[in-house]
Amino acid sequence: MSAAREPIGVIGTGYVGLVTAAGFAELGNDVWCVDIDAEKIAGLQRGEIPIWEPGLAELIEKNSARMHFSTNLADALEHARLLFVAVGTPPTYSGDADLSAVHAVVDSIPASDRHALVMKSTVPCGTGASLQRVFAENGKQGLGYVSCPEFLKEGSAVKDFLHPDRVVVGDAGGWAGDAVVELYAPLDAPLVRTDVASAEMVKLASNAFLATKISFINEIANVCEETGADVVEVARGMGLDDRIGKKFLQAGIGFGGSCFPKDVDALKQLAGNSGYHFQLLTSVIEVNDLQKRRVMRKLQRHLGSLAGKRVALLGMAFKPNTDDMREASSLVLCARLQADGARVAAYDPVAEEQARKLVNGVDFSQSALGALQDADAAVLVTEWEDLVGLDWGEVAAAMRGKLVVDGRNALDPAAVRAAGLAYEGIGRR
Ligand SMILES: NC(=O)c1ccc[n+]([C@@H]2O[C@H](COP(=O)([O-])OP(=O)(O)OC[C@H]3O[C@@H](n4cnc5c(N)ncnc54)[C@H](O)[C@@H]3O)[C@@H](O)[C@H]2O)c1
Repeated sequence: MSAAREPIGVIGTGYVGLVTAAGFAELGNDVWCVDIDAEKIAGLQRGEIPIWEPGLAELIEKNSARMHFSTNLADALEHARLLFVAVGTPPTYSGDADLSAVHAVVDSIPASDRHALVMKSTVPCGTGASLQRVFAENGKQGLGYVSCPEFLKEGSAVKDFLHPDRVVVGDAGGWAGDAVVELYAPLDAPLVRTDVASAEMVKLASNAFLATKISFINEIANVCEETGADVVEVARGMGLDDRIGKKFLQAGIGFGGSCFPKDVDALKQLAGNSGYHFQLLTSVIEVNDLQKRRVMRKLQRHLGSLAGKRVALLGMAFKPNTDDMREASSLVLCARLQADGARVAAYDPVAEEQARKLVNGVDFSQSALGALQDADAAVLVTEWEDLVGLDWGEVAAAMRGKLVVDGRNALDPAAVRAAGLAYEGIGRR
């Protein structure tokens, strides 16, 4: 068998699983995708893509002959020896990662000398070692185990799969790790071949570092507001330093999504469980929580009491180019605004359906101008391209009030002000 084209299994067909499956199919591998969600699998068999991700539907359609969808794990076991695990690992109430889906997969794999689990799901450092102990206790010591954390970003996930910054493969040596390296070889990405625990920690530490960068620049933005500096200028000056870099220096209303909040929490919790108090991450989380609420103060400063005021939220998804609403800042804003008696209007080009499941009493519109009609204030929550490019003259004509809060520092303040509107950014003069 040619290792580069060997069939693989992917367990869990969410954002990571589906993109991984489509990516390997594009590289020429037959991919056997398994999910416990029968409705999702039936839809995929009909060619319906359950998530909104640029380029994914096209990639799946192009490679449909190599992609197989089933609710039956036996199909993947029969055709593939490498089983990529991409099930969810959401946070528990304690902040630890909930590994119940991972354990359900592990329990359903029979003893075998021919198969290996390749862990794509983000799991606490030490999970691989503990799963291998479970294998041994259950007579499944023949199963291989590889940690292969995923770094794709929703919104550019297909591109990230095909052009990764690095591929991390953690194992104890043996056929499975070598086979995973072979699978990724055509991508020609820098390879970090290491032990399982270090691979697990690369993922958690990377996300925690990026989240720290965001909370850091948000605190700088807050100090800028007190001192008259402009955080956009400050970030530009900082980012040109090679040691710092430009990315993740955009101040705003805080990070959300299915990864950063949960992975930062999970690392803090993991450290705590091991007897180490990760003080920095405690602050990163607290700064992020407070940042979402600072928008309320900006609104109140301009509008006074928010009771009865109509506030338009422009964008609901946690970031542009996705319909993912998990831990979106818009959810916190909605709840705070409604608690203060405001009437919330909203528009999102693709996330409305997902958003409707998570909020009540929000007046959704089919267009940005619809949401802005008679609004006393607007808040840019998600910097979708068509929201950033709005005609501010039309916006001014639609709104009753004048205030535009740019929660992502993505707008041109001069263009907004030229339309007679009041512009408020985050940490901007
Ligand atoms: N979403 C991202 O941007 C991203 C990026 C990198 C890493 N990750 C990590 O990847 C993992 C998956 O994330 P996601 O966003 O793709 O999750 P998701 O919720 O979109 O998808 C998970 C899928 O797993 C399925 N599933 C659950 N239990 C199963 C079982 N026992 N057998 C088969 N299928 C099962 C669910 O039905 C669902 O379709 C998480 O650990 C996450 O932290 C996510």
